[in-house]
Amino acid sequence: MRAPELSIVVPVFNERANIAPLVGLVADALPDVAWELIFVDDNSPDGTSEEIKELAANDPRVRGIRRVGRRGLSGASIEGVLSSSAPYVAVMDGDLQHDERVLTRMLALIRAPNVDLVIATREREGSHITGLSDKRSFVSDFGSFLSRLVIKNYVKDPMSGFFMFRREVVERAAPKLATEGFKILVDILATTEEPLQIRETPYVFRERQHGESKLDARVAFDYLGFLFHHLTGRLVPIRFFLFGIVGALGVVVHLAALRFALSGLPSLGFDGAQITATLIAMASNFILNNQLTYRDRRLHGFQFLIGFVLFALSCCIGLVANVGIARLIYSDGQIWWLAGLAGAITGSVFNYVTSGLFVWRKR
Ligand code: GDD
Ligand code: MN
Repeated sequence: MRAPELSIVVPVFNERANIAPLVGLVADALPDVAWELIFVDDNSPDGTSEEIKELAANDPRVRGIRRVGRRGLSGASIEGVLSSSAPYVAVMDGDLQHDERVLTRMLALIRAPNVDLVIATREREGSHITGLSDKRSFVSDFGSFLSRLVIKNYVKDPMSGFFMFRREVVERAAPKLATEGFKILVDILATTEEPLQIRETPYVFRERQHGESKLDARVAFDYLGFLFHHLTGRLVPIRFFLFGIVGALGVVVHLAALRFALSGLPSLGFDGAQITATLIAMASNFILNNQLTYRDRRLHGFQFLIGFVLFALSCCIGLVANVGIARLIYSDGQIWWLAGLAGAITGSVFNYVTSGLFVWRKR
């Protein structure tokens, strides 16, 4: 068997029914190419990995990486790319929405000297991307628009999940790419220092036949964190941004709860109302962080209760740091807002670090 010229990396989560058809379609589309398919499955509960391994046992061009304890389209794609040694690599969805017949055209374009990246651009009818609902089209367009904040090259469809590149392009960028989130193409474009030679080729995005989309409203929230991460020169982690948003929301919850407790439960007195509001805000922050910031490490059942206790304790550590710094700065120049702000930021950083270490720790 010839060593592959093209590796096709396919991130999959709960796509059991799509695996075998995809292998067949790719084989039909690339009769004269030495290709390999690398599926990267995040331990799907529906048996996707078993299906992949069964196919791989009969076809040396197919292999599977089964990741455990991790989730994420970007991270899975990057690992697949890094496991390849072919000169050209494509990333493609495993749900048959990407037209595999475009691969030949992409390969012809990438083989040309000096081309680094080929993007399969979703075709549109008017303002609507074919294969997407109006709402999804709008979200995708708005995401593309915002991506211009962080990418230098102009590309028509930076939100595409279907693209091919010379392997070195991603090998070089890999240590800097974000593994959370799903905007891997925008990330590659924003991270690569040297200008890339890019080609785009249009295709029709197909409707999904089996299984369901994994991109929900939370993904949009992640994307904002991702943009912020790039706008700060990759200094602020995506997760810290999400944690900060949840924290800011916590202040609103706190004030609303305080007001409600003061007027609705006058017997509590101010201190009692403030303590009640603090507990409510802590609980709401904990739940939101569990749903959004740390959804890939989400706690359930008994772990959830233990997690809440640890979260409350780690907030106390943050509080001590917050008051300590604020007092220090206040004693220096008596600037109340600077002291308050510095304290709040220090407290948030402490809370962020401790909750990552003790509450939603990596297992
Ligand atoms: N390993 C792994 N881990 N794979 C995942 C994960 C994950 O956490 N989440 C999604 N996938 C896989 C899916 O199984 C599918 O093969 C592919 O990634 C795309 O996921 P979909 O859930 O089908 O996404 P979509 O169709 O809504 O979004 C597509 O279009 C977007 C543009 O609207 C993707 O191509 C996006 O990359 C693209 O931006
Ligand atoms: Mn899809």
